[in-house]
This record gives sequence, structure tokens and C-alpha cells, in this order.
Amino acid sequence: MPLTARYAGSLVDRLLKVSMEKILVTGAAGFIGSNLCGALLAKGHAVCAVDNLSQSTTRNIEKHFGCSGFEFVQEDVRNEPAILRLAEGATVLVHLAAYKIPRYGNALDTLTINVHGTESVLKAAREHKSRVVFASTSDVYGKNPHLPFAETHDLYLGETNVKRWAYAVSKIMDEHYAFAYQQEYGVSVTALRFFGGYGPGQNTTWWGGPQSVFIDAALKDQPMEIHGDGLQTRSFTYISDHVDGILRTMFSPKAVGEIFNLGNVHEISILDLALLVWRLGGRGEPKVKLISYQAFGKYEDVRNRVPEISKARELLGFEPKVGLEEGLRKTIEWQRSVTNLGEGHS
Ligand SMILES: NC(=O)c1ccc[n+]([C@@H]2O[C@H](COP(=O)([O-])OP(=O)(O)OC[C@H]3O[C@@H](n4cnc5c(N)ncnc54)[C@H](O)[C@@H]3O)[C@@H](O)[C@H]2O)c1
Repeated sequence: MPLTARYAGSLVDRLLKVSMEKILVTGAAGFIGSNLCGALLAKGHAVCAVDNLSQSTTRNIEKHFGCSGFEFVQEDVRNEPAILRLAEGATVLVHLAAYKIPRYGNALDTLTINVHGTESVLKAAREHKSRVVFASTSDVYGKNPHLPFAETHDLYLGETNVKRWAYAVSKIMDEHYAFAYQQEYGVSVTALRFFGGYGPGQNTTWWGGPQSVFIDAALKDQPMEIHGDGLQTRSFTYISDHVDGILRTMFSPKAVGEIFNLGNVHEISILDLALLVWRLGGRGEPKVKLISYQAFGKYEDVRNRVPEISKARELLGFEPKVGLEEGLRKTIEWQRSVTNLGEGHS
């Protein structure tokens, strides 16, 4: 049975909140969404949190259930009448619900959920004159050889029969949709290209990124599975920095109509990331297992990825504050607390 507004604060609570801004967050039970909900509630906003729980559970948001002004609705973002109804009175719609790179799964879900979900949110924003801040991704830069990636760069994607590009294509489509809605209907939109988020609340499988599986393996004293040769590089951004960037965007007039890279500029190879995770969370010699890309069928990876963030710095005052080692320590501590390690593990 769907979870509904029974988790909303009491009627009195809600009456007291009439002067607060109502914010609708889609994908609210996921990693970024749940952390954002916490930050919005702490600022005194009313939050309508929407998620169909297809890639999460209520674990991340249960702590908000008793909070004044918090309402959780289990709903599919593609349900246009429902999103239209839920968005009523919301000043900002933060759209995070999406499927990611179909590394193991199918591309159809990624394409349909991401494109139709965004269209649904944009239609609601048009009707209610709400602002839209939505999640795009660093993956849109694809195989761009020019580092660091700036928002003005061209986007270099591979063949359409390599399913991993479906994610980037869907997010590029989302960006085009959003800017078309702005031009055609005057909806204020902002696209945020997140780079490698990690932290408490992350999905602890591959869905959450390589750091999730490395931590899981290190805690269980199992080999860390690295896709490819491990020399591909990425940059990783601690969740509080991503949330700070979203908050700055939501309430800044300068962000309207813009695309921003939100990420940490520190670049690290995946192999070095694995070794660092093991040093912080494992025991004894690190265990590493290389998995060939062929294991995923016809697959392509991005070799190097690091953001140029001067635009976010200048227009939003965005500055990542949490270093990788500090952030990983906190993440490992959290992941240890939610992982069933059985006997014999510290
Ligand atoms: N975490 C990152 O580092 C990162 C990087 C780049 C882009 N992004 C983007 O940021 C957003 C949030 O990412 P995240 O890491 O929190 O992902 P996540 O998977 O943890 O959260 C996404 C949430 O959306 C929900 N969802 C999926 N399909 C839905 C649907 N049809 N209707 C309603 N809810 C649905 C899932 O159940 C999940 O709780 C996504 O759009 C993602 O593409 C994230």
C-alpha cells in the first residue's frame, strides 16, 4: 500500500508553517534528496517529498517523519496529475528522481523515467509558476578530452548501441526540455551537473558509485571490484557540498536559466580511491579485483572527469569544503552502521 500524507506533520504544525516556503523534492528518499530534505527542514521550509521507492527505501527519510512541515508521498514522478496536485503552492520544485547509467540494468527505464519525469515536473511548474532546479550529470560531458569540463564545452557521446550513453542522452534531453519550457512558457529553470556525490545516505550498491562498493567490500574484507584498469579518474563530492550548492541555486536569482557544474575539483584514479578506502576502512593488505568492461556487454567508460567550477564560484559563491579523506571517513562510519557485517568484523 502506498505511503501517503499520514507522515505529514500535525495540522497545527502545518498551520504554523503557512509563512514558510513549500518546496517539492522528487527522488526525496534517495541519496541527495534525503539529505536535501533534512537541510530544507532545518531552514524551516515545508517539504513535500516524493519518491516511488524504486531505488530506495524509507530508511533515509524516516528521521523526518515526525518533523513539522514534512510530508512524504510515495508516487511515480511520471504521474502528471499527481505531481500537478502535489506541486500546488510550491515555490521551487527540486527534481532529483531519475535512473542512472544502466551498467547492469536496461536503458529503457533510464530513458523513459528521466525524460517523462522531467516533463511531468516542468508541466507542474508551468501551471503553478514554480521554479525548477533539476539534476543533470557530469556524464553529459561524455568522452570530452578537454579537462576540466566547463559548462560551455561540447558534449561528446559514443554510439547509440552502447547503452551506457542512454543516461547522458536522457539528461541532455532533460536540459533541452527545461530550457525550451523556459523560453516557451517562462518557467524559471536551473540545471545542476553533479560530479561524483558520496556520503551518508548513499546507495550502498553500484547504484551509489564506486566508493559505495569499495567501502562495502573493505568492511567485509572482500575484494574491491574495479571496472577496467582502474586508471580512469574521477572527482568526488561530499554530500554536504552538493546540498549547499543546491540550496544556493534554489534561492539565487542569478541561477535562473543557467547550467552549473557542482563538484569537487580534486581528481583521483579509481584504483587510488579503492586503496584509500581500504586504508581507512579495511584490514591488512588491500584486496582488489579487476573486472573487464566486456562483462557489461558493449560498454564504454569515461577516461577522465574533473569539473571546472568557476561559474558556480562566481555566481553562487559555491566552494566545496570537505576533502576526500575526511568525507570518506564519515561515509565509512555511516556505511558501517547500516551494513550487516556478521561476526568477526570491527
Ligand atoms: N549522486 C551523484 O553523484 C549524482 C551524480 C550525477 C547526477 N546525479 C543525479 O542526481 C539525482 C539524485 O541522485 P542520487 O544519487 O540521489 O540518486 P538515488 O538513486 O539515490 O535517488 C534517486 C531517487 O529517485 C527515485 N526514483 C527513481 N525513479 C522514480 C520515479 N519514476 N518516480 C519517483 N521516484 C523515482 C528512486 O527511488 C531514488 O530514491 C539523479 O537525478 C541523478 O541522476 C547524481
